[in-house]
Amino acid sequence: MHGLTSLLLLGSYAFQTVLGRPSVSHLRREGEILKRDVDDFISTEEPIALEQLLCNIGSAGCNAGGVPDGIVLASPSRSNPDYWYTWTRDASLVFKAIVDRFANSYDTTLQTEIENWIVAQARLQTVSNPSGGLSDGSGLGEPKYNVDTSAFTGAWGRPQRDGPALRAIAMIGYSKWLIANGYTSTASSLVWPVIRNDLAYVSQYWNQSGFDLWEEVQGSSFFTVASQHRALVEGSALAQSLGTSCSACDNIAPQVLCFLQSFWSSSNGYVISNFGGGRSGKDANSILGSIHTFDPDLACDAATFQPCSDRALANHKVVVDSFRSIYTINSGISAGTAVAVGRYPEDSYYNGNPWYLNTLAAAEQLYDALYVWNAQGSITVTSTSLNFFRALYSSATTGTFTSDSATYSSLYNAVSAYADGFVNVVSTYAQSNGSMAEQFDRNNGSPLSARDLTWSYAAFLTAAARRANVVPEGWAGADSTATSVPGSCYATSQGGSYSTATFASFPAGQTPITTATGTATATTTRATTTRSSTTTTACATATAVAVTFNVQKVTTWGQTVKVVGNIAALGNWNTGSAIALNANQYTSSNPLWTTTITLPAGQAIQYKYIVVNTDGSVTWEADPNRSYTVARSCSSTATKSDTWQS
Ligand SMILES: *[C@@H]1O[C@H](CO)[C@@H](O)[C@H](O)[C@H]1NC(C)=O
Ligand SMILES: *[C@@H]1O[C@H](CO)[C@@H](O)[C@H](O)[C@H]1NC(C)=O
Ligand SMILES: *[C@@H]1O[C@H](CO)[C@@H](O)[C@H](O)[C@H]1NC(C)=O
Repeated sequence: MHGLTSLLLLGSYAFQTVLGRPSVSHLRREGEILKRDVDDFISTEEPIALEQLLCNIGSAGCNAGGVPDGIVLASPSRSNPDYWYTWTRDASLVFKAIVDRFANSYDTTLQTEIENWIVAQARLQTVSNPSGGLSDGSGLGEPKYNVDTSAFTGAWGRPQRDGPALRAIAMIGYSKWLIANGYTSTASSLVWPVIRNDLAYVSQYWNQSGFDLWEEVQGSSFFTVASQHRALVEGSALAQSLGTSCSACDNIAPQVLCFLQSFWSSSNGYVISNFGGGRSGKDANSILGSIHTFDPDLACDAATFQPCSDRALANHKVVVDSFRSIYTINSGISAGTAVAVGRYPEDSYYNGNPWYLNTLAAAEQLYDALYVWNAQGSITVTSTSLNFFRALYSSATTGTFTSDSATYSSLYNAVSAYADGFVNVVSTYAQSNGSMAEQFDRNNGSPLSARDLTWSYAAFLTAAARRANVVPEGWAGADSTATSVPGSCYATSQGGSYSTATFASFPAGQTPITTATGTATATTTRATTTRSSTTTTACATATAVAVTFNVQKVTTWGQTVKVVGNIAALGNWNTGSAIALNANQYTSSNPLWTTTITLPAGQAIQYKYIVVNTDGSVTWEADPNRSYTVARSCSSTATKSDTWQS
């Protein structure tokens, strides 16, 4: 990030200590070995990443002495470079990661941090700064503040119009949790007025130029526009659930989506990340835009550049490939194998290096895609995405491949290994104690620039969560207009009204509502089989899971219940190869048939139970086919309890 410092700091990389790095051959591990390495790295790094992230947040953070409650340091580094500031973008992305983690698994420490952050942001909205003030909203576009929450008045690339959108998105996430747990009045009276200012800013200023997320290019930027679109759509839905409305959101969102389309270059086959700046436009900006607007329910929608869309996959390949030949640490690594990913190939900040957060984003996009393919039971290869798939699986062709096909398995496994490869790059070049700086040296991989970058840790946590099939709640909701692109684009905007939304604290004791059995109620309706909170704790992720299949079926003497499904371990739908269940625990009041089958973690299956009669004839249970995804978690056992479908 932090572009205006770049000219001053070009020389400083030369003074970095050159650490001994592992040989690059480490990067070329394949298959199971790679997967195990990545499992090990994630289980070691996850608690470190969370701890180090929290260290950079005031006032309790171990690196944040003297920093007010809820203020996020970009990094504890105070010189070469000086990141002892709080950026609205970085802080909002960090808190989006925290809110998602919190929504998946209640944690009072995280709740306190979230509430402190919202209180601090409400105050920051009122701070007049070189971009302007609150009365006309213009001050909300200020990129960074001093850590004591006073305005930073030095020269900088301002305004940056992604900040208010990202801040709204993170606060909307917490508001949804409040509503789901019965605290609608808190969301409505305290959080919504803060969000409303940011949404008004987006509606009013989205169509004016500003600086990109790397703070260098003045113009229009894919990441910014994608974030703005999401904020308006999700903001409107939140308004409705609070019994109010955001008509500016409704009016403007389709136009933001319309403009977003212009970043896609069909002739080049990638996203031109910035208009302005005189570059190729190949930029991790677009990968970040895709993962931060991921909605698992939008499938592979191309208009919103969903991670598994053909556009986003084509773009992933072009952006990643742009770093293959320019970094020494990537040399000799073949196409189709993961490499270190920087910001954009023309980058010269610290001489232009790979960044941990961009390498992790390349992984995260693919984990998002794998999640959706699993959920929908198919992968579609189009002429747009064919080159992406061919690099990983040379015989790929266009078409839709359902999860029972061999092609699906080949594509799925290839993308999965490719995604793990990016995490392995980060594992190779992170410090051995788990610290992650902003960058790592293009020539020897040693950490560079700001140490312990807060955003690097957030990027690790979200990538690890997606790999474990823990996905955020969607943002588009039932609103089908969220993905429908208007026929014509207009340069419109809607002036907003802004008001001071400060408050001192949240009410105490806003704990999750509990069900009759005393367990916390899930905040989303996403299938619990694929959301596993255990995967986010510090433990080794199991690679194989002993899944116990239980089915209740009244049978007569001589009949056997079996299970058959779409993978070899379940007989490939061949009833002759079906797996028999046993009736050891069968009683007339509990007609239980059961068996345990070991399956790979993360495996998605389709299956059915059958009854094999004494004469060998087969009775199938009724449709539909059953679907199940083996959780990737600490646990090496799981149970699937079913009742015969008649
Ligand atoms: C404003 O919107 C119009 C229509 O989409 C577009 O052509 C123009 O480039 C936009 N300008 C900026 C600065 O966003
Ligand atoms: C790792 O070591 C560096 C010194 O090389 C130190 O600054 C950093 O705090 C350490 N990180 C962790 C997570 O202990
Ligand atoms: C169940 O799966 C089998 C094998 O793929 C398929 O032939 C059948 O049509 C599926 N049934 C339903 C209802 O989708």
